[in-house]
Amino acid sequence: MKFDIIQTTPLYNALSEVGKKIYLPEGIFYWAGRAKKEAELIGTLGSAYGFEKDFIEGGNSDWLPCYLKEIANYSQFSVKEIIPYTSIGGLNEIRKVWKDWIIKKSLYGEEDESLLSRLTKYITMPVITGGVTNGIFQGCVMFLNQNDYIIMPNKRWGNYDNIINKFIRAKTRTFEFFNNSEMNINGIETAINEVAKIQDKVVILLNFPNNPTGYVPKKEEASNLIKMLKESQRTLEKPIIVLIDDAYEPYIYNNTVINKSIFYDLHQLDENIIPIKLDGITKELLIYGGRIGFITLGLKPSWVENEEELEKLKDEINNKLEGFIRATISNCNSFYQVVVNKLFQENSMEQIIKSRDKVKKLLKERYESINFELKKIKDPDISIDPNSGGFFVFVNLNPDKIKATVFADHLLNKYKVGIIPVEKLDENINGIRIAYCSIDLSKIPELVKRIDLALNDF
Ligand SMILES: Cc1ncc(COP(=O)(O)O)c(C=O)c1O
Repeated sequence: MKFDIIQTTPLYNALSEVGKKIYLPEGIFYWAGRAKKEAELIGTLGSAYGFEKDFIEGGNSDWLPCYLKEIANYSQFSVKEIIPYTSIGGLNEIRKVWKDWIIKKSLYGEEDESLLSRLTKYITMPVITGGVTNGIFQGCVMFLNQNDYIIMPNKRWGNYDNIINKFIRAKTRTFEFFNNSEMNINGIETAINEVAKIQDKVVILLNFPNNPTGYVPKKEEASNLIKMLKESQRTLEKPIIVLIDDAYEPYIYNNTVINKSIFYDLHQLDENIIPIKLDGITKELLIYGGRIGFITLGLKPSWVENEEELEKLKDEINNKLEGFIRATISNCNSFYQVVVNKLFQENSMEQIIKSRDKVKKLLKERYESINFELKKIKDPDISIDPNSGGFFVFVNLNPDKIKATVFADHLLNKYKVGIIPVEKLDENINGIRIAYCSIDLSKIPELVKRIDLALNDF
């Protein structure tokens, strides 16, 4: 958008720097809007969809957003539950439930007693945010001043830039995500060293499974990353804050990669590598519109001398986080907090996971199919980023031959296929994101065939 009119009005001069700078980027909305009108096969929508009968027992043939069958029970509540404000940090019951859920997601069993007890004791009580987005915003505001640097991969969710550059007016130090189809750990290390020269802290934002690539580190890559972070922290002697966007946490389809958030391993380190977990019900429990996220900090035993200090520290952090919530959204929508609370009170975690597994199975089949079909395309001008989870795959296009937006336009016009092009040549990105989460398995071969045909036109 050009903002031609607003600039001629007295309103514009009165806008703050943020007010002048902020705008809603068009990219995804533009391509998704066109796909809706023009495409026969749509791979732009980042929510999981399926035929109800494929994920709900006794479901019908309607194409619907995937949901957990238990949710359908909660359409009638007592006004006493849903009318009042919740407390600022969220309903206490659900905060406790989510802490237990985070512990459950660690997959630590009885045999990992010491890991389990450290996790249980040294994480804060999750504070409820307005979706994962608001948690990311909160995490960034808490650690970034204007002009501070944050380290992120070049391939990342576009909204980070909105939050960080336009809103907070902090700066991004990006690194090339992949080197020979593996995570570019040297690239992160170089960025850390550069940023540490000019700042007293290093802030990194990571997201696995990643949007837009679906990348999850292999076990060895994750342990190399952790090793590098440990060594960097010891040498630099500055805190390394790692904001971990776990929006797609449970959706991992391949057992060569890590099977849980990197939060857990970072939390177990004694070094001042401070993980901050940002997760939520959005994708994890398939309730996109519920707008319930959580922010949870990993603390270090060396920071306190005894239990009393630990509890005080947790209270102090909680107070700061609640201060942030109070100043932004005041408190979060109570209706969905009640829904989530009931979901966990009336169903075991195993039951919830079992229901979700039906959707995960659908997504895994699509993941396998789309990777299988894409691999058949023999074209030296494309490459597929490593991917093992989440909702998307990313296909890189040779920028000297095909610009991603030109390709997307051609694909839509001639082959009626909608995808999201990402063309950021200054960050070495030129490719298309395919949201297989919302494409039925039966349509994937045809979708890829049309992409192949479109590639042949260039
Ligand atoms: C990587 C990533 N993080 C966070 C979000 C936003 O989550 P929420 O809807 O809970 O704000 C998205 C949504 O698309 C995402 O792709």
